[in-house]
Amino acid sequence: MKLSLLTLATAATVVNAAYPGDIVYYWVDQSATFVNGTVIGGLQSPPSAWYQAIVQAAVYQAAVKSKNESLEFQQLAVSHAAHNSALWVFHGSRLYNAVDASLRAIIPAIGLDPNSKKGKEAVQTGQKAAAAVAQARAEDGITNFLDFTYGPKEPGVYQQSPGANPFPDTPQAQFVRPFAGLGDITRFRPPPPPPTDSKQYEEELLYVKEQGSLDSSARSEYDTDTAYFWRESSITVWNRFAGALVGDKFTTKVLDSAKFYAQLNYALANAGIASWDSKYTHLGWRPITAIHHPTPWVSSGRDISDPSWTPLLRPTPSHPDYVSTHSTFGGAASAVLQAWNGGSDELAAPGVTVSSNVTLDARGVIERTYTSLREAAEENSASRVFGGIHFTFAGVEGVALGQRVAKETLKQFDANWDKF
Ligand SMILES: *[C@@H]1O[C@H](CO)[C@@H](O)[C@H](O)[C@H]1NC(C)=O
Ligand SMILES: *[C@@H]1O[C@H](CO)[C@@H](O)[C@H](O)[C@H]1NC(C)=O
Ligand SMILES: *[C@@H]1O[C@H](CO)[C@@H](O)[C@H](O)[C@H]1NC(C)=O
Repeated sequence: MKLSLLTLATAATVVNAAYPGDIVYYWVDQSATFVNGTVIGGLQSPPSAWYQAIVQAAVYQAAVKSKNESLEFQQLAVSHAAHNSALWVFHGSRLYNAVDASLRAIIPAIGLDPNSKKGKEAVQTGQKAAAAVAQARAEDGITNFLDFTYGPKEPGVYQQSPGANPFPDTPQAQFVRPFAGLGDITRFRPPPPPPTDSKQYEEELLYVKEQGSLDSSARSEYDTDTAYFWRESSITVWNRFAGALVGDKFTTKVLDSAKFYAQLNYALANAGIASWDSKYTHLGWRPITAIHHPTPWVSSGRDISDPSWTPLLRPTPSHPDYVSTHSTFGGAASAVLQAWNGGSDELAAPGVTVSSNVTLDARGVIERTYTSLREAAEENSASRVFGGIHFTFAGVEGVALGQRVAKETLKQFDANWDKF
């Protein structure tokens, strides 16, 4: 009699407790806020993807280890995995209060007492998962110093942009060990950009000069909004896109959700590394440097120089043009989302609606609805040209690179996800 009452009580707890939302997405979303809260107000592109991949690796590991347990056990385990990995990454950024607050807020919603026997086991499962990933990632190369020397001030050669840092961002990120055992990242490297004395280069230069300038009268209002809409960290916006696409399909399926977001963020992190490999190999100059260049250099021989030209998005980021990492991230994310979408590029009606979360130049929050993943990735890519910070070829090749890297990441994932 005693035993069956106890069993009933336990069963009742199981049924009534558990966080009703998608616990993995809760942490994906909180992570975007943590990145924003760092002392510099964000991270450089590859580290921002690297960070989210580390958190999601730990979350997936915790989900795998607790997959036979109750829903709230799984939720508590992945929450501690996310918490500890976020703090491992941001330990030096004094983010303890913010990360602790996110965990403190979700524990009552999960409902499993962390001090109960099962609760303690769940906490430990999450903490162990975070430690395993941190240990494996401690020597992945992201913290290694790699110095940089600018090349000669000749057509096509990358230089510091006005308002940018004196040294370009994290050159060492091109050598970071990829996720899911991807191995040599250079095999994905895009061909060199078109020669600066080609007709194509001149056409693209004139296009970004006209469409991407701060005071452009040629750019449409829609395209100006496109530049602002996609301005946010790609990792944040594509994870939000993913969350809007999957909706509440994963609320009781922690393992499936953890796998999906690990795949997405591994692919994004690998895309960031591949993009950096291309940037620091090809060292292409930015549109602003090309347009400010004092002597004629385009194929027709005419003088296109305008030393006062200013791009819409300012300052031009502190790293080379080719390829656009924003576009590479978009290519990678769209490939993972397409795989999740049964291989289809088309999004079921009424499509996926996403809000921007960066308000620049008093433009306000912008909302967009997409019915095709390719369309979203291409618009994301074009946004950097309308912003005046990239050539079109840097975006086109970036999207293609991201897709190649993501497809290979998905192929390797099941066999190698836990090599960290
Ligand atoms: C879950 O249960 C299955 C079937 O009993 C077992 O093979 C597997 O090892 C268990 N997994 C974990 C992580 O406990
Ligand atoms: C932007 O993100 C912050 C932090 O998550 C949130 O408080 C805010 O409501 C978001 N704004 C929009 C428009 O989504
Ligand atoms: C991140 O910071 C920007 C700039 O302060 C802000 O507009 C945006 O809402 C923040 N986003 C999140 C997710 O907190």
